Amino acid sequence: MKLPSFVKMVEVGPRDGLQNEQQPVSVATRVALIDKLSNSGLSIIEAGSFVSPKWVPQMAASEAVLGAIERKKGVTYSALTPNMQGYQRALEAGVNEVAVFAAASETFSQKNINCTINESLERFRPLLQQARRDAIPVRGYVSCVLGCPYEGNISADKVAEVSAILLSMGCYEISLGDTIGVGTPMAVYQLLEKLTTKLPVEKLAVHFHDTYGQALANIYAALQAGVAVVDAAVAGLGGCPYAPGASGNVASEDVLYMLNGLGIETGIELRTLAAAGDFISTALGRPSNSRVARAISS
Ligand code: HMG
Ligand code: MG
Repeated sequence: MKLPSFVKMVEVGPRDGLQNEQQPVSVATRVALIDKLSNSGLSIIEAGSFVSPKWVPQMAASEAVLGAIERKKGVTYSALTPNMQGYQRALEAGVNEVAVFAAASETFSQKNINCTINESLERFRPLLQQARRDAIPVRGYVSCVLGCPYEGNISADKVAEVSAILLSMGCYEISLGDTIGVGTPMAVYQLLEKLTTKLPVEKLAVHFHDTYGQALANIYAALQAGVAVVDAAVAGLGGCPYAPGASGNVASEDVLYMLNGLGIETGIELRTLAAAGDFISTALGRPSNSRVARAISS
Protein backbone atom coordinates (compact mmCIF):
# COMPACT_ATOMS: atom_id res chain seq x y z
CA MET A 1 0.00 0.00 0.00
CA LYS A 2 1.56 3.27 -1.11
CA LEU A 3 0.69 6.26 1.08
CA PRO A 4 2.35 9.68 1.40
CA SER A 5 4.85 9.96 4.25
CA PHE A 6 3.78 13.54 5.09
CA VAL A 7 0.36 15.16 4.80
CA LYS A 8 -0.27 18.89 5.00
CA MET A 9 -3.52 19.58 6.82
CA VAL A 10 -5.31 22.81 5.90
CA GLU A 11 -7.46 24.01 8.79
CA VAL A 12 -10.64 25.62 7.46
CA GLY A 13 -12.70 25.72 10.68
CA PRO A 14 -12.51 29.47 11.34
CA ARG A 15 -13.82 30.08 7.79
CA ASP A 16 -15.80 27.12 6.40
CA GLY A 17 -16.86 26.22 9.93
CA LEU A 18 -17.99 29.54 11.25
CA GLN A 19 -19.46 30.87 7.97
CA ASN A 20 -22.38 28.56 8.55
CA GLU A 21 -23.28 29.36 12.18
CA GLN A 22 -26.82 30.65 12.75
CA GLN A 23 -25.75 32.91 15.61
CA PRO A 24 -22.94 35.36 14.91
CA VAL A 25 -19.67 34.34 16.54
CA SER A 26 -17.84 37.25 18.15
CA VAL A 27 -14.53 38.52 16.83
CA ALA A 28 -12.95 37.64 20.20
CA THR A 29 -14.06 34.01 19.90
CA ARG A 30 -12.90 33.76 16.29
CA VAL A 31 -9.51 35.21 17.26
CA ALA A 32 -9.13 32.90 20.27
CA LEU A 33 -9.96 29.87 18.10
CA ILE A 34 -7.33 30.81 15.50
CA ASP A 35 -4.70 31.46 18.18
CA LYS A 36 -5.38 28.09 19.81
CA LEU A 37 -5.19 26.35 16.44
CA SER A 38 -1.90 28.04 15.61
CA ASN A 39 -0.33 26.47 18.72
CA SER A 40 -1.04 22.93 17.48
CA GLY A 41 1.58 22.79 14.75
CA LEU A 42 -0.77 23.52 11.85
CA SER A 43 1.05 25.34 9.06
CA ILE A 44 -1.99 26.92 7.40
CA ILE A 45 -5.24 28.27 8.81
CA GLU A 46 -8.06 29.73 6.74
CA ALA A 47 -8.86 32.59 9.05
CA GLY A 48 -11.74 34.37 7.32
CA SER A 49 -13.49 35.34 4.16
CA PHE A 50 -13.65 38.65 2.29
CA VAL A 51 -16.93 38.01 0.54
CA SER A 52 -19.97 40.27 0.47
CA PRO A 53 -21.24 40.74 4.04
CA LYS A 54 -24.76 40.74 2.59
CA TRP A 55 -24.19 37.21 1.29
CA VAL A 56 -22.35 35.81 4.31
CA PRO A 57 -22.80 38.08 7.35
CA GLN A 58 -20.95 35.55 9.54
CA MET A 59 -17.65 36.50 7.89
CA ALA A 60 -18.26 40.27 7.94
CA ALA A 61 -15.66 41.17 10.52
CA SER A 62 -12.78 39.25 8.94
CA GLU A 63 -10.63 42.42 8.92
CA ALA A 64 -11.00 42.70 12.68
CA VAL A 65 -10.18 39.01 13.12
CA LEU A 66 -7.03 39.18 11.00
CA GLY A 67 -6.06 42.37 12.81
CA ALA A 68 -6.29 40.83 16.28
CA ILE A 69 -4.76 37.37 15.94
CA GLU A 70 -1.34 36.61 17.34
CA ARG A 71 0.68 35.74 14.25
CA LYS A 72 2.77 32.71 14.82
CA LYS A 73 5.98 32.26 12.85
CA GLY A 74 5.65 29.56 10.22
CA VAL A 75 1.85 29.71 10.10
CA THR A 76 0.13 30.92 6.93
CA TYR A 77 -3.11 32.84 7.53
CA SER A 78 -5.31 32.72 4.46
CA ALA A 79 -8.78 33.89 3.45
CA LEU A 80 -11.36 33.48 0.69
CA THR A 81 -11.55 36.22 -1.93
CA PRO A 82 -14.31 36.07 -4.57
CA ASN A 83 -13.21 39.15 -6.55
CA MET A 84 -10.79 42.10 -6.63
CA GLN A 85 -12.74 43.92 -3.94
CA GLY A 86 -12.31 40.96 -1.61
CA TYR A 87 -8.67 40.63 -2.57
CA GLN A 88 -7.95 44.27 -1.70
CA ARG A 89 -9.68 43.87 1.65
CA ALA A 90 -7.73 40.69 2.38
CA LEU A 91 -4.43 42.29 1.46
CA GLU A 92 -5.10 45.28 3.70
CA ALA A 93 -5.96 42.88 6.52
CA GLY A 94 -2.52 41.30 6.13
CA VAL A 95 -3.28 37.80 4.87
CA ASN A 96 -0.33 35.67 3.71
CA GLU A 97 -2.38 33.84 1.12
CA VAL A 98 -5.81 33.96 -0.52
CA ALA A 99 -8.17 31.43 -2.09
CA VAL A 100 -10.49 31.86 -5.04
CA PHE A 101 -13.46 29.54 -5.35
CA ALA A 102 -15.13 28.20 -8.44
CA ALA A 103 -17.45 25.26 -9.01
CA ALA A 104 -17.86 22.35 -11.39
CA SER A 105 -21.64 22.97 -11.36
CA GLU A 106 -23.24 25.93 -13.17
CA THR A 107 -26.21 26.11 -10.83
CA PHE A 108 -24.06 26.04 -7.71
CA SER A 109 -21.86 28.76 -9.18
CA GLN A 110 -24.92 30.96 -9.72
CA LYS A 111 -26.31 30.32 -6.25
CA ASN A 112 -22.99 30.75 -4.45
CA ILE A 113 -21.28 33.59 -6.28
CA ASN A 114 -24.00 34.91 -8.59
CA CYS A 115 -22.26 34.25 -11.89
CA THR A 116 -21.49 31.49 -14.38
CA ILE A 117 -18.38 29.32 -14.05
CA ASN A 118 -16.74 31.18 -16.95
CA GLU A 119 -17.59 34.58 -15.49
CA SER A 120 -16.08 33.50 -12.17
CA LEU A 121 -12.86 32.41 -13.87
CA GLU A 122 -12.65 35.73 -15.72
CA ARG A 123 -13.19 37.52 -12.41
CA PHE A 124 -10.29 35.60 -10.87
CA ARG A 125 -7.86 36.37 -13.71
CA PRO A 126 -6.98 39.97 -12.66
CA LEU A 127 -6.93 38.87 -9.03
CA LEU A 128 -4.35 36.19 -9.81
CA GLN A 129 -2.31 38.67 -11.86
CA GLN A 130 -2.30 41.17 -9.00
CA ALA A 131 -1.51 38.45 -6.45
CA ARG A 132 1.49 37.42 -8.51
CA ARG A 133 2.76 41.02 -8.44
CA ASP A 134 2.16 41.11 -4.67
CA ALA A 135 3.80 37.70 -4.19
CA ILE A 136 0.64 36.36 -2.54
CA PRO A 137 0.05 32.65 -3.21
CA VAL A 138 -3.45 31.81 -4.43
CA ARG A 139 -5.23 28.55 -3.78
CA GLY A 140 -8.15 27.50 -5.97
CA TYR A 141 -11.25 25.67 -4.81
CA VAL A 142 -13.50 23.69 -7.10
CA SER A 143 -16.82 22.88 -5.46
CA CYS A 144 -19.30 20.08 -6.13
CA VAL A 145 -16.67 17.72 -7.54
CA LEU A 146 -18.63 14.61 -6.52
CA GLY A 147 -22.15 15.96 -6.79
CA CYS A 148 -24.22 19.13 -6.67
CA PRO A 149 -27.21 19.94 -4.45
CA TYR A 150 -29.02 21.35 -7.51
CA GLU A 151 -27.75 19.32 -10.48
CA GLY A 152 -26.94 15.93 -8.95
CA ASN A 153 -24.14 14.19 -10.87
CA ILE A 154 -21.17 16.24 -12.02
CA SER A 155 -18.83 15.08 -14.77
CA ALA A 156 -15.20 14.45 -13.93
CA ASP A 157 -14.33 16.20 -17.21
CA LYS A 158 -15.86 19.43 -15.92
CA VAL A 159 -13.89 19.13 -12.68
CA ALA A 160 -10.71 18.58 -14.69
CA GLU A 161 -11.45 21.51 -17.00
CA VAL A 162 -12.10 24.05 -14.22
CA SER A 163 -9.13 22.78 -12.19
CA ALA A 164 -6.80 23.02 -15.19
CA ILE A 165 -7.88 26.60 -15.95
CA LEU A 166 -7.33 27.68 -12.34
CA LEU A 167 -3.86 26.11 -12.34
CA SER A 168 -3.01 27.72 -15.67
CA MET A 169 -4.03 31.11 -14.27
CA GLY A 170 -1.55 30.69 -11.42
CA CYS A 171 -3.24 28.88 -8.54
CA TYR A 172 -0.57 26.83 -6.80
CA GLU A 173 -3.00 24.12 -5.71
CA ILE A 174 -6.59 23.00 -6.32
CA SER A 175 -8.74 21.93 -3.41
CA LEU A 176 -11.39 19.53 -4.65
CA GLY A 177 -14.58 20.13 -2.70
CA ASP A 178 -17.18 17.49 -1.99
CA THR A 179 -19.38 20.35 -0.86
CA ILE A 180 -22.35 18.22 0.17
CA GLY A 181 -20.45 15.13 1.25
CA VAL A 182 -22.10 12.68 -1.15
CA GLY A 183 -18.93 11.00 -2.43
CA THR A 184 -17.83 7.45 -1.63
CA PRO A 185 -14.28 6.03 -1.74
CA MET A 186 -14.52 4.42 -5.17
CA ALA A 187 -15.92 7.62 -6.68
CA VAL A 188 -13.09 9.61 -5.08
CA TYR A 189 -10.45 7.21 -6.36
CA GLN A 190 -11.89 7.16 -9.87
CA LEU A 191 -12.16 10.95 -9.98
CA LEU A 192 -8.53 11.31 -8.90
CA GLU A 193 -7.38 8.65 -11.35
CA LYS A 194 -8.99 10.65 -14.12
CA LEU A 195 -7.72 14.04 -12.93
CA THR A 196 -4.16 12.85 -12.47
CA THR A 197 -3.90 11.83 -16.11
CA LYS A 198 -4.05 15.58 -16.83
CA LEU A 199 -2.96 17.32 -13.64
CA PRO A 200 -0.03 16.71 -11.26
CA VAL A 201 -1.23 15.00 -8.10
CA GLU A 202 1.10 17.27 -6.05
CA LYS A 203 -1.19 20.16 -6.98
CA LEU A 204 -4.36 18.52 -5.69
CA ALA A 205 -5.93 18.72 -2.24
CA VAL A 206 -9.16 17.23 -0.96
CA HIS A 207 -11.90 19.06 0.94
CA PHE A 208 -14.61 16.76 2.17
CA HIS A 209 -17.80 17.53 4.02
CA ASP A 210 -19.04 14.63 6.11
CA THR A 211 -22.78 14.70 5.42
CA TYR A 212 -23.04 10.97 4.72
CA GLY A 213 -20.24 9.90 7.08
CA GLN A 214 -17.92 9.03 4.20
CA ALA A 215 -15.26 11.69 4.62
CA LEU A 216 -12.54 9.68 6.41
CA ALA A 217 -12.93 6.75 4.01
CA ASN A 218 -12.83 9.21 1.13
CA ILE A 219 -9.64 10.80 2.45
CA TYR A 220 -8.07 7.35 2.74
CA ALA A 221 -8.97 6.71 -0.91
CA ALA A 222 -7.44 10.07 -1.85
CA LEU A 223 -4.22 9.23 0.03
CA GLN A 224 -4.00 5.97 -1.93
CA ALA A 225 -4.35 8.00 -5.11
CA GLY A 226 -1.33 10.07 -4.01
CA VAL A 227 -2.98 13.21 -2.59
CA ALA A 228 -1.03 14.65 0.35
CA VAL A 229 -2.99 17.81 1.25
CA VAL A 230 -6.21 17.46 3.24
CA ASP A 231 -8.64 20.18 4.37
CA ALA A 232 -10.52 19.74 7.63
CA ALA A 233 -12.32 21.79 10.26
CA VAL A 234 -11.70 21.44 13.97
CA ALA A 235 -14.67 19.92 15.83
CA GLY A 236 -16.21 19.13 12.44
CA LEU A 237 -17.60 22.63 12.13
CA GLY A 238 -18.97 23.80 8.87
CA GLY A 239 -21.16 23.83 5.84
CA CYS A 240 -21.92 26.16 3.01
CA PRO A 241 -24.87 28.54 3.32
CA TYR A 242 -25.56 28.09 -0.42
CA ALA A 243 -25.44 24.28 -0.42
CA PRO A 244 -28.64 22.98 1.14
CA GLY A 245 -28.06 19.80 3.13
CA ALA A 246 -24.31 20.30 3.46
CA SER A 247 -23.15 19.40 6.92
CA GLY A 248 -19.83 20.06 8.60
CA ASN A 249 -16.38 19.46 7.22
CA VAL A 250 -14.59 16.32 8.27
CA ALA A 251 -13.22 16.95 11.78
CA SER A 252 -9.52 17.83 11.91
CA GLU A 253 -9.03 15.74 15.06
CA ASP A 254 -10.46 12.66 13.29
CA VAL A 255 -8.25 13.17 10.24
CA LEU A 256 -5.16 13.64 12.42
CA TYR A 257 -5.93 10.51 14.47
CA MET A 258 -6.24 8.50 11.26
CA LEU A 259 -3.02 9.94 9.82
CA ASN A 260 -1.18 9.23 13.09
CA GLY A 261 -2.43 5.65 12.97
CA LEU A 262 -1.17 5.31 9.41
CA GLY A 263 2.26 6.56 10.49
CA ILE A 264 1.94 9.66 8.32
CA GLU A 265 3.74 12.78 9.59
CA THR A 266 1.83 16.06 9.90
CA GLY A 267 3.71 18.11 12.51
CA ILE A 268 0.44 18.58 14.41
CA GLU A 269 -0.18 17.73 18.05
CA LEU A 270 -3.53 16.01 18.63
CA ARG A 271 -4.16 17.17 22.22
CA THR A 272 -3.55 20.83 21.37
CA LEU A 273 -5.75 20.58 18.29
CA ALA A 274 -8.49 18.90 20.33
CA ALA A 275 -8.23 21.66 22.94
CA ALA A 276 -9.01 24.21 20.22
CA GLY A 277 -11.99 22.06 19.24
CA ASP A 278 -13.20 21.89 22.86
CA PHE A 279 -12.90 25.66 23.10
CA ILE A 280 -15.09 26.36 20.06
CA SER A 281 -17.62 23.64 20.95
CA THR A 282 -18.05 25.17 24.41
CA ALA A 283 -18.34 28.65 22.90
CA LEU A 284 -21.04 27.40 20.51
CA GLY A 285 -22.79 25.51 23.30
CA ARG A 286 -22.90 22.11 21.64
CA PRO A 287 -20.92 18.87 21.61
CA SER A 288 -18.07 18.50 19.16
CA ASN A 289 -18.74 16.69 15.88
CA SER A 290 -15.33 15.05 16.21
CA ARG A 291 -15.58 11.44 17.36
CA VAL A 292 -11.92 11.51 18.38
CA ALA A 293 -12.37 14.68 20.44
CA ARG A 294 -15.33 13.14 22.24
CA ALA A 295 -13.39 9.95 22.90
CA ILE A 296 -10.28 11.60 24.30
CA SER A 297 -12.09 14.16 26.42
CA SER A 298 -14.45 11.62 28.04
P1 HMG B 1 -22.97 40.25 -6.31
O1 HMG B 1 -24.17 40.74 -5.54
O2 HMG B 1 -23.19 39.69 -7.67
O3 HMG B 1 -21.79 41.36 -6.34
O4 HMG B 1 -22.27 39.16 -5.40
P2 HMG B 1 -21.62 42.71 -7.09
O5 HMG B 1 -20.23 42.74 -7.62
O6 HMG B 1 -22.77 42.96 -8.05
O7 HMG B 1 -21.72 43.77 -5.90
C1 HMG B 1 -22.92 43.93 -5.14
C2 HMG B 1 -22.59 44.58 -3.82
O8 HMG B 1 -21.75 43.71 -3.07
C3 HMG B 1 -21.84 45.89 -3.92
O9 HMG B 1 -22.24 46.70 -2.81
C4 HMG B 1 -20.41 45.52 -3.72
O10 HMG B 1 -19.62 46.55 -3.18
C5 HMG B 1 -20.54 44.39 -2.69
P3 HMG B 1 -23.40 47.82 -2.93
O11 HMG B 1 -22.89 48.74 -4.02
O12 HMG B 1 -24.67 47.08 -3.31
O13 HMG B 1 -23.45 48.42 -1.55
N1 HMG B 1 -19.41 43.44 -2.76
C6 HMG B 1 -18.55 43.23 -1.75
N2 HMG B 1 -18.47 43.73 -0.51
C7 HMG B 1 -17.44 43.31 0.26
N3 HMG B 1 -16.50 42.40 -0.16
C8 HMG B 1 -16.57 41.88 -1.39
C9 HMG B 1 -17.61 42.31 -2.25
N4 HMG B 1 -17.95 42.00 -3.51
C10 HMG B 1 -19.03 42.71 -3.82
N5 HMG B 1 -15.65 41.01 -1.79
C11 HMG B 1 -20.31 37.96 -4.68
C12 HMG B 1 -21.12 38.44 -5.86
C13 HMG B 1 -19.28 36.99 -5.21
C14 HMG B 1 -19.63 39.14 -4.02
C15 HMG B 1 -21.28 37.27 -3.68
O14 HMG B 1 -22.04 36.31 -4.37
C16 HMG B 1 -20.56 36.60 -2.55
O15 HMG B 1 -19.98 37.27 -1.71
N6 HMG B 1 -20.63 35.25 -2.47
C17 HMG B 1 -19.89 34.49 -1.47
C18 HMG B 1 -20.66 33.28 -1.06
C19 HMG B 1 -19.85 32.50 -0.07
O16 HMG B 1 -19.00 33.04 0.63
N7 HMG B 1 -20.11 31.18 0.02
C20 HMG B 1 -19.39 30.33 0.93
C21 HMG B 1 -17.97 30.11 0.54
S1 HMG B 1 -17.77 28.89 -0.74
C22 HMG B 1 -17.74 27.37 0.12
O17 HMG B 1 -18.05 27.34 1.28
C23 HMG B 1 -17.27 26.14 -0.60
C24 HMG B 1 -15.85 25.74 -0.18
O18 HMG B 1 -15.78 25.50 1.21
C25 HMG B 1 -15.43 24.47 -0.94
C26 HMG B 1 -16.47 23.36 -0.86
O19 HMG B 1 -16.88 22.98 0.24
O20 HMG B 1 -16.86 22.92 -1.95
C27 HMG B 1 -14.83 26.83 -0.52
MG1 MG C 1 -16.39 23.66 2.19
